[in-house]
Amino acid sequence: MQRIDELDLCHLNWDDPEFAADPWSHFDEARKKHPWLAKTDAGYAVFELKAIRDLLGNDGNLRPSFDGIAEIMECKGSPWGRFCEEQMIALPDKEHKLLRETFAAKFTPRYANQLRPIMRETMERLLRDWAPREKIDFEEFASYYPVSVMAQMVGALLEVIPGLRESMETLGLAFAMDKTKVPELDKAFLHMDKFAHDLVAERRANPHREGDETDLLDMLIEAGNEGGISDRQLYDLLIFLFVAGYDTSKNVLTYMMHLMTDNPEIYERCADDPEYCRKVVEETLRMFNPSSSFRATSEDVVYRDVLIPAGTMLFFNLNVSGRDPTAFDDPEKFNPERPIDPARRHVAFGLGKHMCLGQYIARAQLQEGIHLIAQHMRSPHEVGEKDWRPFPGVWGIKGLPIEFTPA
Ligand code: HEM
Repeated sequence: MQRIDELDLCHLNWDDPEFAADPWSHFDEARKKHPWLAKTDAGYAVFELKAIRDLLGNDGNLRPSFDGIAEIMECKGSPWGRFCEEQMIALPDKEHKLLRETFAAKFTPRYANQLRPIMRETMERLLRDWAPREKIDFEEFASYYPVSVMAQMVGALLEVIPGLRESMETLGLAFAMDKTKVPELDKAFLHMDKFAHDLVAERRANPHREGDETDLLDMLIEAGNEGGISDRQLYDLLIFLFVAGYDTSKNVLTYMMHLMTDNPEIYERCADDPEYCRKVVEETLRMFNPSSSFRATSEDVVYRDVLIPAGTMLFFNLNVSGRDPTAFDDPEKFNPERPIDPARRHVAFGLGKHMCLGQYIARAQLQEGIHLIAQHMRSPHEVGEKDWRPFPGVWGIKGLPIEFTPA
């Protein structure tokens, strides 16, 4: 057995902007030195699909390592610093379990299906505005979709959407770990916080009556009351749901369009066949996903003859694991008909006790979205340079200028 710090590992310099444009080739290099581990300035990268599934799938000895972020950013106790330490994913195990158990039972595939009409209505409204333009930044267009769907799901007024979007763009900067951004992060958080307070207060003052259709906000308030969740936790959860579903969904939808511009037949079929869109979404999530999971080991862990001492920082590179050549044949090929082996399924939504609560909603949203986009933005092609958001963070394409024929 060898200690992790004794291994001869490739060092990944992922702060380099060039890395974000093509991380896969760097991981190919890393794989030549070690099958599942590499080093970074802040800890170790676990990049092999099997190692991620084994370690993150049995995460009793891992804890999310959000503590320390407020200290590094010197914002302990500031509005954003408090949220950072108390947001759902950062809570100690016991508190997290209570919160998750209170809400998890509601985030079912059935519930996500019930939300599909809202998703379609939202996308149709966006397309009425954007599709006639012929030339757009697709990333900007895509950014309005998850925030608009979420706003509809909680019964918020349409006019709040631009402000929420702007705040979430700012909160997305948090991963750059730049102390000078704290005042902006605080301001953006306070905007979201006021929105959450007003929304809950308004609904409590004017509850839906029996027989009225209930929405996500009713469900959250009711589940919160039953589970003894405080108002502060309820506001934080609402904000977290908006934030968790924003960059992630936007970046996947944007990458999906990037793939479509190279695969016109697949795109055409998406316009006609909603069932096929399911396969396209799954294959997109294999080819690309924006997330990674940061964990610290809470005790010594031994895996495949490597000793990982307690307190070691591990980055699980969910984001590149879908192109692991040891798990997928011809991983660079975008093939929605690729058979799915449950033991080697992509891990875009993470694994273990923090696995994405919104995964069914995210999938439904992407399926409905691409089906309608393909009907209204015909023959899209890229017309300019695209950039990349920082890796790992919530990584993805930054700016995707496209031209298309409106239908
Ligand atoms: C394509 C879009 C999405 C992707 C790729 C994604 C990915 C993920 C990943 C990887 C995690 C686990 C993070 C970790 O282990 O550190 C996560 C957690 C979470 N996601 Fe998502 N997500 C998406 C959309 C959404 C949406 C739309 C919502 C809300 C409606 C949502 C709500 C959550 C919540 C609440 C958690 C935390 C669960 C917990 O700590 O127990 N996500 N997501």
